Amino acid sequence: MKQQLLNIKDALLSELDSSEKAQKLDASALEALKVKYLGKKGELTAILRSMGSLSPEERPVIGQLANKIRSEIEAAIEEKRAAVAEFAKKKKLELEKVDISAPAKIPALGGKHPISMIQEQLEDIFLGMGFDIAEGPEIEQEYYNFTALNTPENHPARDMQDTFYITPDILLRTQTSPVQARTMEKTKPPIRIISPGRVYRSDAVDATHSPMFHQLEGLVVDKGITMGDLKGTLDLFAKTMFGGETKIRFRPHHFPFTEPSAEVDVSCFVCGGKGCRLCKGEGWIEILGAGMVHPNVLRNCGIDPEVYSGFAFGMGIERIVMTKYAINDMRLLYENDLRFLSQFN
Ligand code: PHE
Repeated sequence: MKQQLLNIKDALLSELDSSEKAQKLDASALEALKVKYLGKKGELTAILRSMGSLSPEERPVIGQLANKIRSEIEAAIEEKRAAVAEFAKKKKLELEKVDISAPAKIPALGGKHPISMIQEQLEDIFLGMGFDIAEGPEIEQEYYNFTALNTPENHPARDMQDTFYITPDILLRTQTSPVQARTMEKTKPPIRIISPGRVYRSDAVDATHSPMFHQLEGLVVDKGITMGDLKGTLDLFAKTMFGGETKIRFRPHHFPFTEPSAEVDVSCFVCGGKGCRLCKGEGWIEILGAGMVHPNVLRNCGIDPEVYSGFAFGMGIERIVMTKYAINDMRLLYENDLRFLSQFN
């Protein structure tokens, strides 16, 4: 009988062990094995039932052995159950494995447009000199765009800045200069403002013209402001924007709202003034218009030209962008081709 018990245990262990079978042993198959060996009609139970035929000396010995074998069988099945669960879990993880070494999909990030970048740079430079930023409407009154700026009706300068009229009195501003008049009307000197923004002219599109572009206006009005202040301000601006070696040059010019007026050039920051492709052999690059605020303009805005004087300047932001990055066609700035724009980030 003792041998029978040991045989039962061996039989179970070999059923559990056959490795090929072991992988198929799911929970229900293990339960079936348990019933087969330990259940009411199981093999161990059958042996225990026949213990009556044993002698009183043998009975406790066999009884003990049977209990030991029962718990060994239970333990073996339990152990197998754990092993099978572990195996199933490993297999599942294997299937769900994520390759964290694969390159990530990085979303395409946007960036600032070169016009915005340069505009912000210009703002920073002038804010650093103590200017404030003033804003004005793009849909402007003819009065502020021309008349207040000493450009009366039939003045030829109106022709040079032909624009889009909404009514005879309302137009798309051709320059940021109307912000000068608006600021002087509502602010007492000292005035120190810049005003960046969009302006419009009915120009046909080509490499250097666009019906919409950007300007940045500057205006300073106070007692005792001279052309020397204008020169000093623009010199510092040019050195900060284009490099410490940069020089400026004033050429006489005419604007209706400044007197005297000048066009201002900076020495070429590529060749240093010797002449190269960027400056077209000139050594100088024109970047803005400027002058002393015309007494008529001060008067139109309620400021006494006998007491106050001022200077103003205006620059095309596109021109600065194109100069700084050696861009030869303005249209590139408006086409929004990412192959172009992504080079600035
Ligand atoms: N408004 C002028 C232009 O658009 C530039 C300018 C501004 C000139 C201020 C002098 C003073 O051409």
